[in-house]
Amino acid sequence: MAPPEVRFPAARSAIGGVPIADLVAAFGTPTYVYDAARIEAQIDRFKAFDTVRYAQKANSNLAILDLVRRKGVLVDAVSAGEIHRAELAGYSASGKPAPIVFTADIFDRDSLEMVLDRGVPVNCGSPDMIDQYGERVPGGEITLRINPGFGHGHSRKTNTGGEHSKHGIWHANLEDAVMLADKHGLRVTGIHMHIGSGVDFEHLAKVSAAAVGFARRVGSSVRTLSAGGGLPTPYREEDPEVDIDAYFAIWDRDRKALEETFGHAVELEIEPGRFLTAEAGSLLTEIRATKKMGSNTFYLVDAGFNNLARPILYGSHHPISLALDAEEAAKRSLRKVVVGGPLCESGDIFTQDEGGIVRSEPVLEARVGEILTIECAGAYGFVMSSNYNSKPFAAEVLVRDGNAHLVRRRETVEDLVRGESIPEA
Ligand code: LLP
Repeated sequence: MAPPEVRFPAARSAIGGVPIADLVAAFGTPTYVYDAARIEAQIDRFKAFDTVRYAQKANSNLAILDLVRRKGVLVDAVSAGEIHRAELAGYSASGKPAPIVFTADIFDRDSLEMVLDRGVPVNCGSPDMIDQYGERVPGGEITLRINPGFGHGHSRKTNTGGEHSKHGIWHANLEDAVMLADKHGLRVTGIHMHIGSGVDFEHLAKVSAAAVGFARRVGSSVRTLSAGGGLPTPYREEDPEVDIDAYFAIWDRDRKALEETFGHAVELEIEPGRFLTAEAGSLLTEIRATKKMGSNTFYLVDAGFNNLARPILYGSHHPISLALDAEEAAKRSLRKVVVGGPLCESGDIFTQDEGGIVRSEPVLEARVGEILTIECAGAYGFVMSSNYNSKPFAAEVLVRDGNAHLVRRRETVEDLVRGESIPEA
């Protein structure tokens, strides 16, 4: 009998066919490595949807945007910077369906000007956005992001629905929002909901039914329904896989009922971020010290929460493997260790639960100079990094067809102070 497939083995020697040792020799550490084939395979799972719109906030490196664009995926932008990135990666501002959509709860002034200058369509998450857009583009079109009054999320900080969430137009105020749009002659052409979904199909059915209910309240000007993102990816061996076909079936059934009522087609969009890039990304980091603290063993590595903030922010779990081939790995045993980074802050620990409770996890016995791979780090990894402790941003590498491409060079200490100045005495 074939052994059960292990998603997250304790040792891993290559990424996308390229030896980790070669990646480290060429690019150093800490380095993010993305496996193009895994992103492409995830995109293929959404074939049934009319439009796949990548929530680039998950990973907006230009090479990733270019890769998803070549696969026919459109893009979401939440800032002037993200519109700029989308354009640099080859997306045009206009087209049907819109290649770039701006989704937010506010227009900061830069975003508003860029949206207007480029003609990027907007998905409004507050009445003020409707007003500010309507004043500048009377007679235009908008879509509305609705907060349905309930939510779902893996952490309080990422739950995106309900009355404690700042996102979207409150469901009970939908008619007011439509009146406000009318005042400016704006047509509401789409309904969008992103509440973080989970894998619970009863919940998903509720989300879809709610979206359709909102579309009916707006009326037949609605031509797109967006299911938002929020599809979970496995971070642990035992995490379930989402059944995308079943997910589509729920939305498709409700969309068809809506088409019947309206007498015209309604496009179904999905807006995944994490689902496309999380599993494709790994953070390579070198062990620089190992030490005992009473009963705990620590592996201290050269990446910290400046590179990957999810553990300290949400207590998120990331699988950790040692870069070794299977033969060498077989000679080592697992030991429970705490994995921490270089920052002068005790919370700089990759193995922690929400609330900052440090835990130890089984990692293969390792020595200083060996490489740990922190996995499932391709979404909300690099993009949430900081320069805390004056640490330069890591390098980013894309592995495609067995070749490694540097897609963002490591920052230098000179980069860190660019733009700073000391006032003359
Ligand atoms: N659409 C909208 C409007 C969103 O706000 C988001 C994520 C997405 C789509 C994509 O969601 P995804 O498919 O990636 O779950 N930093 C947190 C996640 C924050 C998500 C913010 N909005 C983390 O590291 O888990």
